[in-house]
Formats: sequence, C-alpha cells, structure tokens
Amino acid sequence: MEMGNIMEQDVERVLFSEEELSRRVGEIAAQIDADYVGREPLLVSVLRGSFVFMADLVRKITLPCTVDFMAVSSYGTGSSSSGQVKIIKDLSEHIEGKDVIVVEDILDSGNTLSYLLEILKARQPASIRLCTLLDKPSRRVKPVELHYSGFSIPDYFVVGYGLDYAERYRNLPYIGVLKPSVYEH
Ligand code: PRP
Repeated sequence: MEMGNIMEQDVERVLFSEEELSRRVGEIAAQIDADYVGREPLLVSVLRGSFVFMADLVRKITLPCTVDFMAVSSYGTGSSSSGQVKIIKDLSEHIEGKDVIVVEDILDSGNTLSYLLEILKARQPASIRLCTLLDKPSRRVKPVELHYSGFSIPDYFVVGYGLDYAERYRNLPYIGVLKPSVYEH
C-alpha cells in the first residue's frame, strides 16, 4: 500500500478498494432499479456514516428517486450501541405512503436499526426496506430484516468510505481495517 497520506499509517490493510466498492454499489443500484420499476423510492440516509455510500448509490440509481436525511445517536458505550435511539435530526418530509429505503453504512448489533425502523414504520410508509453497505452478522443482538447488503464481514474494526473511528478516517476513499495500536490505549 502507498503511504502517501498520514491517515494511511493507521490502516493495517485495505478490505475493499475504491474499485470493489464502486462495482458493488453499482450492483445494489441495479437491484434497486429492478425492484422499484414504476415507483419512486425515497432514500433515507442515516447520518453520519452513510453519507459517502448514499452519494455514490443515488448516482448509480437510474429511476427517479428522492432523498432525505436523518441523524440519530445511540446511547451506548464505546463501540456498542444500546437500543435506545435519540433522533438528533428528523426527516424533512413526511413518509406516509412512500416507498422508503433506509441507507446505512453498517449493520452491527442491530440495536439502532431495529429501533429506527419501528419509528419509521409507525409513520405508515407504503413500504420500507433496509440497505446497508456492510453487515456484521456475528455481532447481531436484535434481528433486523435486511433487503440490500453490500458485503458481509467478520468483526473487523473498519474505517473509511464514511466510517469513522473517533470521527476520523471518514474521508478515506476505501474501507480499511484499523491497526489495533490506534484504538488500544
Ligand atoms: C453506526 C451505523 C449504524 C449503527 C449500527 O453509526 O451507522 O447507525 O452504528 O450499529 P448497531 O447495529 O450496533 O446499532 P454510529 O453510531 O457509528 O454513528 P455515525 O454514523 O455517526 O458514525
């Protein structure tokens, strides 16, 4: 790996390159295109981690679609969430009667998403599906119905392409595994 930038010194290895991400995001977009023919899905990005995936995904979807954004924080300690979700920023539009696709960067314990999906279902969308770039099934505590998944991964500490550690590394263009020395103090 080239060590052209200072963040890269903290990356043990590249898990998914820019090219691999682009190819997989294109496949997910094609699936969404096929599944929503004749409809106009509303893509809901759950901030902050999903902003990069969301931006790439919508540009590969060829159907008309709309976008909205939501920010939530899960009350948890360190790297695990608790299931209590606080809405920091709610959607700008009503979703009643809409075909909603919730876009996430990573599905881990499922605490955040199971809670969020319940909140959104109560607003009576016509349909609601979950799309996540990364899935860590081994970490699941709450079952979550997942329709679109980019990559299923082991319990690696991943950063980049929107994913952070202590708010850093979101701007890496690929997904990398963080060196343990970075987070083990
Ligand atoms: C991540 C991710 C999900 C949640 C998944 O967000 O975007 O919202 O954790 O974890 P769970 O399945 O264990 O609930 P994070 O809290 O890291 O916030 P961020 O998107 O602002 O980085």
